[in-house]
Amino acid sequence: MLAVGPNGVGKTNLLESLHVATQGFSPRTRTDAQLISFGSTASRVAVRGTRAASPIEIEVVLQSAAAKQAKVNGAALRTAEQLRSETATLVFTPDRLGVIKGAPVARRAYFDRVLGRLSPARASLPAEYGAAIAQRNAALRLRSAALSTWTQQVAELGSQLVAARKETLSLLSPPFAERAGELGLSEAELRYAGEPPTVEALEARLDRDLERGHTGLGPHLDDIVVSSGPRDLRAYGSQGEQRLAVLALLLGEAELIADRRGFAPLLLLDDVLSELDPSRRAILAARVSRAGQTLITATDPSLLPAEPDQLVEVTRGSAR
Ligand SMILES: Nc1ncnc2c1ncn2[C@@H]1O[C@H](COP(=O)(O)OP(=O)(O)OP(=O)(O)O)[C@@H](O)[C@H]1O
Ligand SMILES: [Mg+2]
Repeated sequence: MLAVGPNGVGKTNLLESLHVATQGFSPRTRTDAQLISFGSTASRVAVRGTRAASPIEIEVVLQSAAAKQAKVNGAALRTAEQLRSETATLVFTPDRLGVIKGAPVARRAYFDRVLGRLSPARASLPAEYGAAIAQRNAALRLRSAALSTWTQQVAELGSQLVAARKETLSLLSPPFAERAGELGLSEAELRYAGEPPTVEALEARLDRDLERGHTGLGPHLDDIVVSSGPRDLRAYGSQGEQRLAVLALLLGEAELIADRRGFAPLLLLDDVLSELDPSRRAILAARVSRAGQTLITATDPSLLPAEPDQLVEVTRGSAR
């Protein structure tokens, strides 16, 4: 589906509302109040469709003074975040370029979300490791007796996290390289830069850690190298190449999700066509037409070099 309209009419709003309806949160902000129309105290988004050939209806209600609520086929979920295990949605927004060109923290956060989507049982591992690091850092600053316990925890959870991240990358690398190659990024690769932390390595730098009051080793400092042949795209990719790399990550993950869950994710691609040359736009259009349901936003229908199944014209306050 292609949603078109001039700047500022609400195309991104429409796409964002589909993300909220299927995932329970916005890709843009964690402040739910921003999702409620100015001057109102609540908003509601409801979608109807099919999931693995069965009908599904979802409703999410956001209120300025209460927790958001979500229902699937009429049954209330405990939290709206649970929607993540019900439906799969992958989103591209222009600020996702930060995954390639941003600081390592942006890549770690992105790939940890991929980890959670591909291995739901381990989705909480990054947060558990983060909590252990916070505890160890507090123990360093207080010079507390609990320090050695937290050193052990950091080594244990850190090793699990490094292993899970490496496993995620080895799953994602082949479809990523394939989609990237198709989009003209040859020999694309994902490589984990970091080693599992050990108690010995942590203790070997204890003096420095005590002095600084934080843990200077472990997967909270690791990075993921994204390259095309010998070129590191983090530093040397052009804007367009960085965009293609993000798209290849998303399309590669979509295939893995379709394999694992038995249904393709919903793809939401905001402003994806600008900055791509016509031949790459055509390749992308052909690829998404074979993927699951996709919503693309653009300011002009001619930007998509293919006939969309559905064309939606967005004007202020309506989409038809
Ligand atoms: N909570 C809100 N209540 C009412 N209007 C809002 C709210 N949040 C954002 N807006 C406004 O909605 C309008 C539409 O924004 P949106 O980002 O969806 O436009 P767009 O069609 O995607 O434009 P572009 O082509 O520039 O990306 C903007 O003018 C924005 O200021
Ligand atoms: Mg927009």
